Amino acid sequence: MGEENGLKDQIACNTRISSIIDDDLSYAGYNISELMDNNASFEEVIYLLWNLHLPTQIELKHFVDELRANYAISDAVEQCILIQSRRHLHPMSVLRSTVSLLGVYNINAEDNSVEATYEQSIQLMAKMPTIIATFARLRMGLTPVEPREDLGFAANFLYMLNGEEPTPLQVTALNKALVLHADHELNASTFAARVTASTLTDIYSCVTTAIGTLKGPLHGGANEKVFDMLREIREHGNTEVYLKEKLDSQEKIMGFGHRVYKTQDPREKYLREMAQQLTQGTEDEVWFNLSCEIEAYMKNTKGLIPNVDFYSATVYHVLGIDSSIFTLIFAMSRVSGWIAHIQEQQKNNKLIRPRSHYIGQLNLEYIPIGKR
Ligand code: COA
Repeated sequence: MGEENGLKDQIACNTRISSIIDDDLSYAGYNISELMDNNASFEEVIYLLWNLHLPTQIELKHFVDELRANYAISDAVEQCILIQSRRHLHPMSVLRSTVSLLGVYNINAEDNSVEATYEQSIQLMAKMPTIIATFARLRMGLTPVEPREDLGFAANFLYMLNGEEPTPLQVTALNKALVLHADHELNASTFAARVTASTLTDIYSCVTTAIGTLKGPLHGGANEKVFDMLREIREHGNTEVYLKEKLDSQEKIMGFGHRVYKTQDPREKYLREMAQQLTQGTEDEVWFNLSCEIEAYMKNTKGLIPNVDFYSATVYHVLGIDSSIFTLIFAMSRVSGWIAHIQEQQKNNKLIRPRSHYIGQLNLEYIPIGKR
């Protein structure tokens, strides 16, 4: 039954938001190569996922203005992040509880009318980068940097994180990474968000569910582990011996394999290109070269393909992002897809409540506790 194969290849809902067909990914009908090759902005892609059409110039300006006007977080939320900025706390747990807190502080959180849901969606989307950058800086003992409303989503995030304006190449790289992670059909966290939405609960509860699901190492948690592995291999000194030892002891190599893609992960080539471009001629080139070695070994020995998490690790590292918050960057992008799916679920809702196949005992006799 489903439990053993993880519902592999089961169709659980209809959607117009994204599709994976023949190992290729599209958002609302636009192949990701179309969006990448034409340098679509992340803001355009969020709009596309939420509205199922690309915005006109006026629509985009209005949308971008709304996002920018909501970048800031309240002092109460910042205080809460400060309390959670101790190093032993898991960054994804901090993000999960902070997003939950946004729902507590939004007095309209229980209103699920179309207008209120839209306002909550904008708030969530706009505040994620501020929460993440604030957390990352506080955790390193640095003062948070206020968001800048004159900067776009990717540029503003890098500015808040690193305390200086990013270069155009850095902005382009993060923008592309955000576009590539924005949505991915019925991945585990999106499915979890839709199940939660199907009970007609509030949007903050749905996104909190999704963040908790993305945290796991078989899902979003893999990209953080990829960079840890690159560091370990560099220290170890022999890529092949390191990988062989791991594989011989049945360990999974993070950033490889995929439940749906078998021949290629269509997002990976763009991240590989970016990793190469960003590291070329710099001291970080070592990470790119090491990644290529690992990719070749995994293909030759196991026939496994790199997934979206593999080269994104190097891209994020070069952008000045600490590996401990890689999965938060994933969440910062994927929240756009979660929200699109939550709204789609709400518009045509049916409670998601499957059945299980009971394989335990039946008709047992109750024995009083003193006689057991
Ligand atoms: N390293 C080593 N072996 C792997 C592997 C990896 N990353 N991914 C899959 N395999 C092997 C499994 O050991 C299994 O081999 P077997 O048939 O000899 O037992 C086979 O490939 C099928 O893997 P399985 O885990 O059953 O596939 P799945 O569809 O359940 O899992 C993932 C898909 C993504 C969970 C899995 O590939 C994985 O754990 N990858 C690493 C984590 C990761 O990068 N996650 C991010 C996904 S975007």
